[in-house]
Amino acid sequence: MSSPKNSLDNKAQAWSARFNEPVDELVQRYTASIGFDQRFAMVDIAGSLAHAQMLATQKIISAQDLADIEKGMAQIKSEIESGQFVWQLALEDVHLNIEARLTALVGDAGKRLHTGRSRNDQVATDLRLWLRASVDEIAITLQALRSALLDLAEKHAGTIMPGHTHLQVAQPITFGHHLMAYFEMFSRDASRLTDLRARFNRLPLGAAALAGTTYPIDQEQVAKTLGFDGICNNSLDAVSDRDFAIEFCAFASILMMHVSRLSEELVLWLSPRFGFIDLPDRFCTGSSIMPQKKNPDVPELARGKTGRVYGDLISLLTLMKSQPLAYNKDNQEDKEPLFDAVDTVQDTLRIFADMIPHIEVKADVMKVAAQEGFSTATDLADYLVKKGLAFRDAHEAVAHAVKACVGRNCMLTDLSLSELRFACGLDNRPELIGDDVFTLLTVDGSVQSRQHAGGTAPSQVLAAIKRGRADL
Ligand code: ARG
Repeated sequence: MSSPKNSLDNKAQAWSARFNEPVDELVQRYTASIGFDQRFAMVDIAGSLAHAQMLATQKIISAQDLADIEKGMAQIKSEIESGQFVWQLALEDVHLNIEARLTALVGDAGKRLHTGRSRNDQVATDLRLWLRASVDEIAITLQALRSALLDLAEKHAGTIMPGHTHLQVAQPITFGHHLMAYFEMFSRDASRLTDLRARFNRLPLGAAALAGTTYPIDQEQVAKTLGFDGICNNSLDAVSDRDFAIEFCAFASILMMHVSRLSEELVLWLSPRFGFIDLPDRFCTGSSIMPQKKNPDVPELARGKTGRVYGDLISLLTLMKSQPLAYNKDNQEDKEPLFDAVDTVQDTLRIFADMIPHIEVKADVMKVAAQEGFSTATDLADYLVKKGLAFRDAHEAVAHAVKACVGRNCMLTDLSLSELRFACGLDNRPELIGDDVFTLLTVDGSVQSRQHAGGTAPSQVLAAIKRGRADL
């Protein structure tokens, strides 16, 4: 019988002594995660250092072991940063690659690092640490986007544009008001991000493989070192929970849905049919065949990428569906969708935060468009109501007037006072329509008169912006 060999000393594979033959090459590639979980390197090292410090405090390893581990990890860090670290497929994942290198550098102390820990709680910890840093970066970019919206809305608090329902001109609104609707959506996204961060900022380390560990560990110390607000309450849940990745992707999906709506409007507004806005050339591309084209590729692509992020959410939900407790290798598949959602959201937010201040608004075109489609017809009905008519009767009277204008191919304001009274069927009640009606039928009059919280009047938009700034 040959003497037992320590797998970490010779062959890469932390668990190979139990095996009689090497892992099939394709299986090795199939099961390895090193191709994508290298992104965890720095958080993995941070987690290991916190764990080692706790092991030393609790006298589970010696002070010398800790010093060796810290020295080795410092070197590994610089090897990774300088691109010199050799990642090995045979070592499966980021955790085993770093641990093997540590042992090569510092010997026995490296072998003691994994005391009281499993890759199951280790990877769960890495995921939370990595996602937390990403969430904090995304929160900053999201804030930049919201602030860009506020600035543009302030500039255009009084710029009149058509508001649409069913993509038909409905009532005049201000462009600032329209932008503030997006500010509201992105503010809800920001609050969702804060919520989910608070829920997952808990330490899973200590759960070990699933059942906890026999060593006198101090999870609170590790949690404190790593900036967690507390520890996971149940060791089985700690290693198997991926709710936070799903929650993040749900947040990302809703956010991208908002981005896709804004993108769709930018595409429409930029099309010569609308001609409401222009975008700087650096956010657009040309056509390889049609020399005249300037295409809004950024908003179109953002609209398209929304689908990918929904896909990431569905991937994770499906990954976790029906999984028995506790850890299963399925969970290795949690990383790529999460990385993709984080990257897509971060890039999209950065580009939009940069692009929004440079939207060039064609206020004259917007204003002309706002006058189309009898957009102030409701104002006329409201006017009649204030003069004493019941709303349904006023609605009916204005419908008659609109019908008459459609027949004559003119606008309500093109009618004389007596023509307007007649068209409304109110020529027998002249006291209901006076000369003052014509100011009110203008698009300016229409937006000015919507004077309440959340309304489109420029002063209300400015008030909303003020509230928004306070919230930022
Ligand atoms: N690479 C693995 C993952 O990403 C680490 C955990 C491995 N655990 C195990 N029991 N095989 O999930």
